[in-house]
Amino acid sequence: MANTILVGAQWGDEGKGKIIDVLTEQADFIVRTQGGNNAGHTVFLGKKKYVLHLVPSGILRPGKRCVIGNGVVIDPIGLVEEIDRLTTLGVKVNTNLLISETAHLVLPYHRELDEQREILKGKDKIGTTKRGIGPAYGDKAARTGLRMIDLINPRCFEEKLRFKIKENNEVLKAFGAKPLSFKKVHDAYRAAGDRLKPFVANTVILLNEAALTQANILFEGAQGTFLDIDHGTYPFVTSSNTTAGGACTGSGVPPNRMDRVVGVMKAYTTRVGEGPLPTENQAIADLLHGLGREFGATTGRPRRCGWFDAVATGHATMVNGIDELAVTNLDGLDTLATIKVCVAYRDGANRYDYVPNELEVLSRCQPVYEEFPGWNTPTHRARKWKELPPKARVYLKAIAELTGAKLTVVSVGPAREETISL
Ligand code: GDP
Ligand code: IMO
Ligand code: MG
Repeated sequence: MANTILVGAQWGDEGKGKIIDVLTEQADFIVRTQGGNNAGHTVFLGKKKYVLHLVPSGILRPGKRCVIGNGVVIDPIGLVEEIDRLTTLGVKVNTNLLISETAHLVLPYHRELDEQREILKGKDKIGTTKRGIGPAYGDKAARTGLRMIDLINPRCFEEKLRFKIKENNEVLKAFGAKPLSFKKVHDAYRAAGDRLKPFVANTVILLNEAALTQANILFEGAQGTFLDIDHGTYPFVTSSNTTAGGACTGSGVPPNRMDRVVGVMKAYTTRVGEGPLPTENQAIADLLHGLGREFGATTGRPRRCGWFDAVATGHATMVNGIDELAVTNLDGLDTLATIKVCVAYRDGANRYDYVPNELEVLSRCQPVYEEFPGWNTPTHRARKWKELPPKARVYLKAIAELTGAKLTVVSVGPAREETISL
């Protein structure tokens, strides 16, 4: 399989968890490199549903090693709870999980600040997951963050946390929010530190040694291209580099060890949270929500939905260097008579075949659509390319061509076996 970076090519929730689970069969290591428990990656094994937030989805296959890399921000209590939940579901989490000692921590003041900033912004809010992600990455960039290595060193943790609680209580008071008790936070997080200590390691050295021994490493992206802090629809983004480069900085594995980039995209578009979504369409949202689909895996919020946006996915191919495409949720379009694909944006007399950076312009842009006839046939039983309705094949070929990468996987249902490899 070689070393593969898997990224979301849209606004997150593309079905990365499902595709990671399929590709993990060929992998030795599965590595998360950015984001935190704002992610929610759904994997079905038979009828059993697993939602992974910080633990790489590879944990569900015995014999695989999973790494939470240095670029991830870790809520220690959230992680302990996730490990316990997985254990209850019968998943073994022991020496198969490693946590980078230099990954930064998400602490209660980050979550509280996330919430307070959103309240203050009012109608201009980002619509974050309220997991404290922005403030935690903010501390990392400001060089005032705490890391896993601090959490497992009681003396160091106490000293650094005392200062941070003092500092942040001043800020929380200014927001009119309740200050935090140092002792309560300290005791709860030290206990989580003791639980997590056996997993903590120098994962940069481990992964580079693995890369030298020809191990297959799969980098599990979180969020999606248009939530990237640099390349997304700023400020309606998350706080990490969700694009392919983030896999290198967030793991310490250099670019010349990477062999391919797989972009995951839905056969339509979804977004959860605020910010522009040029192809948004209420009828598609009603259709998908009516089927019980497209509710956030982390927050349960209904996702906004729209037609496939090939301007966006084409841009994603460029900034990620996507070689191969996995298209998921094809079955979501099974009942439509006509299917639209956005091939350009129009703003007055201006036509764009790229995503404009000016948010005001992007928000005004109207999609230019090409129409495709629907196939009006259930696709979820197809296991081979030839078993798909011809009109579905035409549609898939067209969106892959417009996106500019090779179609290698089509997903027609949430389960592992509901997958077509080309
Ligand atoms: P991720 O964050 O990219 O891993 O995606 P999520 O798990 O948040 O959301 C994707 C949703 O689509 C989940 O509920 C998956 O079970 C589901 N899913 C993935 N692929 C398919 C598919 O091909 N068909 C259907 N019906 N559901 C799918
Ligand atoms: P996965 O990995 C979809 C969105 C939030 C919000 C914005 C900022 O499951 O694809 P944050 O809490 O990160 O500060 O929120 O980013 N967001 C996601 N949307 N899927 C995700 O992860 C997301 N993680 C964050 O809804 O709009
Ligand atoms: Mg998700």
